[in-house]
Amino acid sequence: MREKIVLAYSGGLDTSVAIKWLQENHDVDVIAAAVDVGQPDDLPAVQEKATRIGAVESLVIDAKRPFADDFITPSLAANAMYERAYPLPTALARPLIAAELVALARARGATGIAHGCTGKGNDQVRFDVAFAALAPELKIYAPAREWGMTRDEEIDYAKEHGIDVPVTKSSPYSVDENMYGRSIEAGVLEDPWNESPADAWGWTKSQEDAPDTAEHIEIGFDRGRPVSLNAEPLDLIDIIERLNSLAGLHGIGRIDMVENRVVGIKSRETYECPAATVLTLAHADLETLTLPRELARYKYQVEDAFADQVYNGLWFSPLRAALSAFIGSTQVADN
Ligand code: ARG
Repeated sequence: MREKIVLAYSGGLDTSVAIKWLQENHDVDVIAAAVDVGQPDDLPAVQEKATRIGAVESLVIDAKRPFADDFITPSLAANAMYERAYPLPTALARPLIAAELVALARARGATGIAHGCTGKGNDQVRFDVAFAALAPELKIYAPAREWGMTRDEEIDYAKEHGIDVPVTKSSPYSVDENMYGRSIEAGVLEDPWNESPADAWGWTKSQEDAPDTAEHIEIGFDRGRPVSLNAEPLDLIDIIERLNSLAGLHGIGRIDMVENRVVGIKSRETYECPAATVLTLAHADLETLTLPRELARYKYQVEDAFADQVYNGLWFSPLRAALSAFIGSTQVADN
C-alpha cells in the first residue's frame, strides 16, 4: 500500500498541480484538505476539484470557530499590528491550518504533510515551523519549492494531466483571503513606486467612491472580546463580517506598506482589513480608559513582541504562549 500524505489544498494552480506531482514524483496517495477560515471561495467546488484531479480523499474542514476564538480574539486583545501596520490575517491562519492538517494526518495514519508555498514567502516558514512543532514525526513536502517549474510550465503540466486551468485571465497578483483580511501582493505591486491599481482592491471602496455621509457605530467589548455591534449582541464572526462590509464601503482598512519578511527581504504588500482595523483601533482606544498607565505602557512592548512571534510563524512557541498569558491578564474586569 502507498503511503498517504495530507496536502493543504486551496483549489489554485499550485496545489492542484501538487496533487498529481506528489503522486508521480513521491509515489504517495494524497488526501486534499481545504481549511475554511472564512475565505470567500466556493469550497464545495474546491473539494470536488481535488477528487477530480485524483486525491484519494478530499475534504473541507470548517475552522471558522477556532479561528475567531483562539487566534483572532487573543490577537485583538494584543492590538497586534506587525510593524505597527499589518493586523496579521494570513499569519494568524497558518498555524490553525497546520494544526487541522496535523490532526487529519494522525486520524488517517498519514506519514507526511504537504503545502504549496514557494521559497520566497513567509508562509512556507509558518507551515514548516508549525508542522515541526506539532508533529515532528511527519515528513514535510513542499512541492512548489522542489519542482522548479515556471508558471507557464506549471500550466503545461496541468494541461497534460487533465487538470483544469481557470479560463479567465488569472489574477496578476497573489491573493490570500480569510475572514480577518485580504492580502494582495506581487505583480506590479512589487515596485513600491507604483501606486496600487484599482483592480488590486476587492473588499474596500476608494475614498473617492465612498459615501459622503459618515456611519456611526458602537462596538461592545467584554474582557477584550467584541460582543456587540450597535447594542445588538452578536457572535464575533458576524461582527467581523458586518464590519468588513460596512467599513470597507467607507474605504477603511486599506494598508499599503513595505514589510520586512521573515526570509530577510523587504516586500511591498497591500492588504484590506476593514474589520481588523476598526476593531483594533476601538480596542486600543478603550484600553486608554481601562488600563493603568504603567500597565498600558508595558503592554505596548508585549504587543510588538506578540506581533513578531505571530508574523515569524512562532505561534506554537513557549514565548508566544507566555506573551498571550500576560495579555490575557490585562483583559480583566478589575485592573
Ligand atoms: N505578507 C503577508 C504575510 O506574510 C501576506 C502573505 C499572503 N500571501 C499571499 N499570497 N498574498 O502574512
